[in-house]
Amino acid sequence: MSTSFNINGQPLSVDAEQDMPLLWVIRDVIGYKGTKFGCGIGMCGACTVHINGRAARSCITPLAAVAGASITTIEGLDPAGQHPLQKAWVETQTPQCGYCQSGQIMQAATLLKDYPDPSDADIDAVMSGNLCRCMAYARIRKAIRIAAQEMRGAAS
Ligand code: FES
Ligand code: FES
Repeated sequence: MSTSFNINGQPLSVDAEQDMPLLWVIRDVIGYKGTKFGCGIGMCGACTVHINGRAARSCITPLAAVAGASITTIEGLDPAGQHPLQKAWVETQTPQCGYCQSGQIMQAATLLKDYPDPSDADIDAVMSGNLCRCMAYARIRKAIRIAAQEMRGAAS
């Protein structure tokens, strides 16, 4: 059965089982490899993408749930990879192994929609479900603050 949706600004129809996790559709059917598999049970955040503009865990989202939806992966966050979060991540050299980081950035993008000037408590509350085995949490928080500042400057 064919399922149609929009991904990174492009309309697409996919022939796959309706209960296939969106993560596998993104990685193995479409071929975007930036979204990662961590736990597969919605507990780590490595697979975070945006569905209709909100962070969502693609490992526990069946294909059927995104019919007609608009999906954004890390590849589509900014056409040139120059989203303020991506620039701040580079500036602060936030990643260590990097495995969790696309999920962290996608979650952080939702955070900054809700909290343009987030406190540490706001950051911790929204980001606490995105795990990092390299313990890069302090740099993640710093990078979010830098990106928030840039985005507020651009908006004013
Ligand atoms: S792989 Fe989806 S939450 Fe861990
Ligand atoms: S940078 Fe290695 S798991 Fe987060």
